[in-house]
Amino acid sequence: MESSYNKQVVLITGCTTGGIGHALARAFAAEKCVVVATSRSRSSMADLEEDSRFFLQELDVLSDESVQNVLSNVLHEFGRIDVLVNNAGVQFVGPLAEIPLSAIQATFNTNVYGTMRLIQAVVPHMASRKKGKIVNVGSVSVLAPPPWAGAYTASKAALHALTDSLRLELRPFGIDVINVVPGAIRSNLGNSAAASYSRMPEWKLYKQFNEAIRARAYFSQGAKSTPSEEFAKKTVAAVLKKNPPSWFSYGHYSTIMAIMYHLPLFVKDFILRKAMKC
Ligand SMILES: NC(=O)c1ccc[n+]([C@@H]2O[C@H](COP(=O)([O-])OP(=O)(O)OC[C@H]3O[C@@H](n4cnc5c(N)ncnc54)[C@H](OP(=O)(O)O)[C@@H]3O)[C@@H](O)[C@H]2O)c1
Repeated sequence: MESSYNKQVVLITGCTTGGIGHALARAFAAEKCVVVATSRSRSSMADLEEDSRFFLQELDVLSDESVQNVLSNVLHEFGRIDVLVNNAGVQFVGPLAEIPLSAIQATFNTNVYGTMRLIQAVVPHMASRKKGKIVNVGSVSVLAPPPWAGAYTASKAALHALTDSLRLELRPFGIDVINVVPGAIRSNLGNSAAASYSRMPEWKLYKQFNEAIRARAYFSQGAKSTPSEEFAKKTVAAVLKKNPPSWFSYGHYSTIMAIMYHLPLFVKDFILRKAMKC
């Protein structure tokens, strides 16, 4: 491990190769940060193993024990965490009227409560130093919630709201809170959502929409999706600013979704019904 003296220590969740977290890890390292790259399994970020800029740790955001364990390892090794990036997340697709409630709960467990678990663990440490940055990775889907990914979008909407409240609540303690809002970024998100979709029961009312729903899993993974490296480079530049923005959105569809947000609901519904075959 390289000397961490004078370098920002950045902890990132969900750094599996091919995803945004992995690209963020590399982009922070390129800006001379010490990167604590974490994922559920160390083998999923094996390519970082030999690089002394990375401190690799297994971390499952669903487990208190795992979070506490990593935190104590990091504080023992570096004495601080300057930036926490809550990137780990799962996408889930399926019609809201029929998906098992357990699938909605699992989505919230990772995207919302997993993120809060990390924040509650790291804040006392950051507050004691009166310094730190917390980055939550939201989603542009919140700006115009489409059909077929309601559980995912609701979890990200909850996260956006928590992020806004946290920004105000943590300001007195010198902690910046940043909502990073990706557009469509190339990653493993489509494949993992399709894998969980294939475990769903056969729909009763929604059989005829099966292909449209399956396609929703890959909506962010089209030919024009933004490469995760490009997204990560822009995001890291924004986060490392002395005064980082409260909201940073970038990537394919980010502009169009920002416009959609302001449209009347009937126009929004019309566009989304056409796009999502609903
Ligand atoms: N790609 C996009 O277009 C897009 C758009 C908007 C928002 N986002 C958000 O960006 C973030 C990164 O997603 P991505 O696109 O890079 O997808 P991805 O490639 O599937 O990465 C998701 C990461 O989260 C990890 N993860 C899932 N459950 C976890 C848990 N319990 N504990 C720790 N890590 C866990 C995954 O680990 P495993 O490999 O072990 O499953 C993986 O490393 C997510 O929050 C996602 O919602 C992505």
